[in-house]
Amino acid sequence: MIESAIAPQQIQELQTLSNLDAFWMPFTANRQFKAHPRLMQSAKGMYYTTTDGREILDGTAGLWCVNAGHCRSQITSAIAAQATKMDFAPTFQMGHPGPFALAERLAALLPGDLNRVFFANSGSEAVDSALKIALAYHNVRGESRRTRLIGRERGYHGVGFGGISVGGIATNRKWFGPLLPGVDHLPHTHSLANNAFSKGQPTWGAELADDLERIVALHDPSTIAAVIVEPLAGSTGVLVPPKEYLQRLRSICDRHGILLIFDEVITGFGRLGRGFGAEYFGVLPDLMAVAKGITNGAVPMGAVFARDYLYEAFMQGPEGAIELFHGYTYSGHPLACAAAEATLDIYEQEGLFERAGSLASYWETALHSLRDAPHVIDIRNLGLVGGIELKPRPNAPGLRAYEALVRCFESGLLIRTTGDIIALSPPLIVEKHQIDRMVETLRETLMTID
Ligand SMILES: Cc1ncc(COP(=O)(O)O)c(C=O)c1O
Repeated sequence: MIESAIAPQQIQELQTLSNLDAFWMPFTANRQFKAHPRLMQSAKGMYYTTTDGREILDGTAGLWCVNAGHCRSQITSAIAAQATKMDFAPTFQMGHPGPFALAERLAALLPGDLNRVFFANSGSEAVDSALKIALAYHNVRGESRRTRLIGRERGYHGVGFGGISVGGIATNRKWFGPLLPGVDHLPHTHSLANNAFSKGQPTWGAELADDLERIVALHDPSTIAAVIVEPLAGSTGVLVPPKEYLQRLRSICDRHGILLIFDEVITGFGRLGRGFGAEYFGVLPDLMAVAKGITNGAVPMGAVFARDYLYEAFMQGPEGAIELFHGYTYSGHPLACAAAEATLDIYEQEGLFERAGSLASYWETALHSLRDAPHVIDIRNLGLVGGIELKPRPNAPGLRAYEALVRCFESGLLIRTTGDIIALSPPLIVEKHQIDRMVETLRETLMTID
């Protein structure tokens, strides 16, 4: 049985919260959590502090967001200053300097000619925006038959109807009806038989990309608008792309006039040791969705980067006509722009992308030292991402990893789990001794659970 993570002091704190019932928690077993809550009340740098005053080392950068560490004063004061100066201004048929300046700065940071930036408020919105831009792009060019979207099994692209349609996680799809029509999926790249305990990119599996040719032949290229993948799949439990896999996808898309969309919601902003996965893997997509690290998680923001030619295709009609009938009230919100500018300052001043790159081999060695720990059947890593796959308990999938999460939390470490996979993605400011502590806590935890 899982013991309560709640201490007597915390019970007192919680009593001041009159009760936990009203908040319908997302992606959470509500009743289980509310019976044994894990509540944070403050955060600084690499640590959270719980409501009962315990320090928790953040092994997950919140939820793949807080790449520069928590509560950076540069960011919080930029948000406060902006909130005082101008709280909100719309960006429909008017504007304010924030998103223009930020877009210009981001364009300079992005590889290739990913120079046009469409703002959203989350990864899900960024993904759905990218899919809509892809469909509309073919339309404005007169190729309106190109309506099919190709995702990948085990892909996670947020929770909008577009995102779950191209996504490949059954539990996120099966409750919500028929979803978008005309969607197909590539096979996922997970193979314990071929790739277990690979360090970095596995050598087996590039040929899985060739399945796209089969899908293209089945539907005819003239019906396919876009392929969307996470360069490194995170939420499904850290699947590192096989060597040459993304290159093959790129060349098949090129051959057939299909757009390639990278969902870089977690790989963007330094996670792999370069600014973006596109740079790390040397593959330029036509569209890229980002969120999370763009503001260090401090204010919600998402964005789509489009290559120049894509934007230009929309700019051919009459000058007074709206070119894209899409946008959010909060696209380019002033507070999010202020947070993003300050976040980019920190990334730049502290060289955090490079820092992640230079820590990657220490991280790899530390993680793979858990190979002989109980229950471990695979370890995967790239940049500052780690996945540790546990053997599921018979008839109780996910429970072993969930118990590990609870025990780690009791021991002062925040991890994330998906099924029986532990995912790790610390802030890029992590120190070596903190990596050591994560690994030690994990080993001790794995030794105590059955
Ligand atoms: C690859 C990817 N895409 C999209 C999303 C959705 O982002 P959000 O939860 O901000 O909507 C996530 C969230 O984890 C993600 O990992």
